[in-house]
Amino acid sequence: METKIFKNITQQDIEYIGKSICNGEVIALPTETVYGLGANGLDSKALEKIYIAKGRPSDNPLILHVANSNEVNDLVEYIPKIAKNLMEAFWPGPLTITLPKSDKVPMKATGGLNTVALRCPAHDICRAIIAASGVPIAAPSANLSGKPSPTTAMDVYNDMNGKIAGIVDGGECLVGIESTVIEVLENSVTILRPGAITEEMLSTVVDEVHFDKALLDKNTAPKAPGMKYKHYAPNANMYTFVGKSDVVANKIVDKIKANANLKYALIVSYDVESYLRKNITEKLMDNIHFLTYGKKDDLTLLAHVLYSNLLKCNALDVDMIIAEGVEERGLGVAIMNRLAKASNNNVIKV
Ligand code: TXA
Ligand code: MG
Repeated sequence: METKIFKNITQQDIEYIGKSICNGEVIALPTETVYGLGANGLDSKALEKIYIAKGRPSDNPLILHVANSNEVNDLVEYIPKIAKNLMEAFWPGPLTITLPKSDKVPMKATGGLNTVALRCPAHDICRAIIAASGVPIAAPSANLSGKPSPTTAMDVYNDMNGKIAGIVDGGECLVGIESTVIEVLENSVTILRPGAITEEMLSTVVDEVHFDKALLDKNTAPKAPGMKYKHYAPNANMYTFVGKSDVVANKIVDKIKANANLKYALIVSYDVESYLRKNITEKLMDNIHFLTYGKKDDLTLLAHVLYSNLLKCNALDVDMIIAEGVEERGLGVAIMNRLAKASNNNVIKV
């Protein structure tokens, strides 16, 4: 199959892409979080194509994307008051809400669950295409299952060329990691997947905000089926060190000295990079590729570049990746969730 790339999108393109999706094609779309593989959320055959293109396990449900909150009414049994308040506060934006599904939503979209995940993305082109399609658009992240999620059209192309009908190039995704997924009950909210809408932000609208037990205890089964799978895995072995910059830098130096013949990529802050440069010989420096993001506390920037850095590590063909972890507060919760998965839980507090 030829994969058509849509650039400099016109209104005509939007109509064409919307219609193609409505008619059963799979087309990758930009959102503010990561690129998604879009298909008609009410068409089981189109949804099957998503699972095939991604190599995704069939019990892992999809998120239905809507152009505005009114479109939710037909897709759910009822909307609790707090869900309405959350939509008002955070939509369009990186918040996915799971609610009891209506009969209109096919089981193929929900992986057999009775709830459906809904999100209204904060990306103008994406919302215009959803509106033009006239249907909710199911869109999982547009990567091969298990790989880092794509934040540019080129990342999508590398995984999906020849497998889908098209890719809409909307530039770099602003946020860089996937939406916060929450379960909404009558009076409380449970975070199933942390994202850019943080616990602290949800708490400004809802009194009771919990984390799914599985996020705190590895032995509990997660409520979001996708959270149990291996994810975001780069090709090389990866370690994440969390602690004060100088201590983290020393640990990284020790690790590199212990295997001086390997090629390393370091995903670190400027703070750690500068400590490292003071403490490592020039010869060992030859083996290191720095993927330095910025100041240690710039979590927004770290989230923005995280997946693109993991994909760069694959392109650089390094033997080992070492990342600097962050404090699990605010956006740091979502970042550490992704780093832990990418590192296969090799997270070392120093
Ligand atoms: O930011 C995002 O959410 C991106 C963009 C493209 O919108 N999409 C995305 O989709 O990350 P995906 O399929 O890669 O992740 C969806 C997550 C999975 O962990 C899935 O198990 C969970 O949401 N999920 C979907 N429906 C659910 C439901 N009814 N109950 C619990 N978890 C659900
Ligand atoms: Mg995904």
